[in-house]
Amino acid sequence: MTRVSPPDVIVLGAGAAGLLCALEAGKRGRRVLVLEKANAIGKKIRISGGGRCNFTNLHTGPENFLSGNPHFCRSALARFTPRDFIARVDAAGIEWHEKKLGQLFCTQPGGAGLIVEMLRRQCAATGRVTLACKSDITKIDKAGDGFVVVANGKSFRCRSLVVATGGPSIPKMGATGFGYALARQFGLPVVEPRAALVPLVLAGRAQAQAKRLAGVSLPVIARCGEGYFDEDMLFTHRGLSGPAILQISSYWSPHQTISIDLLPGISVEKFLSAARRESPKRGLLRLLEARMPARLAVEIAEELACAGKIAELSASAVRDLSQRIHHWTFSPAGSEGYRTAEVTRGGVSTEVLSSKTMECTRQAGLYFIGEVTDVTGHLGGFNFQWAWASGHAAGQAV
Ligand code: FDA
Repeated sequence: MTRVSPPDVIVLGAGAAGLLCALEAGKRGRRVLVLEKANAIGKKIRISGGGRCNFTNLHTGPENFLSGNPHFCRSALARFTPRDFIARVDAAGIEWHEKKLGQLFCTQPGGAGLIVEMLRRQCAATGRVTLACKSDITKIDKAGDGFVVVANGKSFRCRSLVVATGGPSIPKMGATGFGYALARQFGLPVVEPRAALVPLVLAGRAQAQAKRLAGVSLPVIARCGEGYFDEDMLFTHRGLSGPAILQISSYWSPHQTISIDLLPGISVEKFLSAARRESPKRGLLRLLEARMPARLAVEIAEELACAGKIAELSASAVRDLSQRIHHWTFSPAGSEGYRTAEVTRGGVSTEVLSSKTMECTRQAGLYFIGEVTDVTGHLGGFNFQWAWASGHAAGQAV
């Protein structure tokens, strides 16, 4: 009977971070067992970017991440850069292109699956990595200078345990808060998790208005706290979505207000004053419709009861209109929550993790990588870059 050697490293979760970590550790000769709850590896990678996976962003820097410690991500990001991942994608012959703003996507439809296949093949090539899907982990304990993990009724011992179980966004894909529970089991602090990169829900009159405008999209500037995003916004039946809203949702906490400039780069006061001089008989609605989607122009003109000729508009009505268009301020009733959130903000506190290795400073041999940590990227490939970089950092250390 052949004796199977116990693994040196167990990685929990075969997502982006777990796979890259397993691969790096395997290349260094470590025997790695990856325990994945789902029936397949890399499920979130497969559905990302509409199946084309926005796998990195050329402009990745610490400023693209939210965290209790904004400097935490610096070291790992510097040691595994977008160029490092691109080199692997190129070596695997996967075609890619820059869509906009440094966002790199696979060119082929379903290209996301090629990224998963690339990682699977590279793990296999090390000859040291075992991927075990449908693993039901029921117990994890410290044992001597290592850990014991019980999965599907079997006990596995390891020296290093890497938690790469992601966050609870999109629970119907099997996402869980497992990593947070494990951190708490070891007495580690968890920064309150909440849905991020998520559509926002409005209430009352604002929601009724959004419903009437559902499907209308326009470029805006969205602001909340330190967040500032110059991207497109989309009205939905329940509230607001589109890149500008997803981005600002990561900065928003309940009861805070969000301010939207619906006509960035143009001064409403200036263009209306000019119109008053040059074409006083023109209707306000026509003027607005030339600069923004017609349905939104009608909504705003009706709301402010100022649909008449431009010459009839008082100075204070112009000010109100300018305020409504450039500083539309509202308090969302909430977000659509984990059901549709692209990521989870918060997570295992960076206070107790080494920024070089992702090892827990209070529990030797225990590592947290990827989305389970309190590091959340902006929209645009930054979350995958964090998963690759933090996975790489741990993979070099385990
Ligand atoms: P990830 O969630 O990928 O992996 C965690 C793994 O752990 C999963 O396989 C899960 O099944 C497993 N697991 C959970 N609990 C477990 C348990 N108890 N036992 C064992 N295994 C367990 N980002 C980006 O940069 N570009 C993009 O294009 C997109 N697009 C996108 C679309 C959609 C619809 C979503 C939901 C998300 C994105 N993202 C994204 C975000 C990106 O997918 C996310 O940040 C990374 O997948 C995080 O990688 P992790 O490996 O940390 O977690």
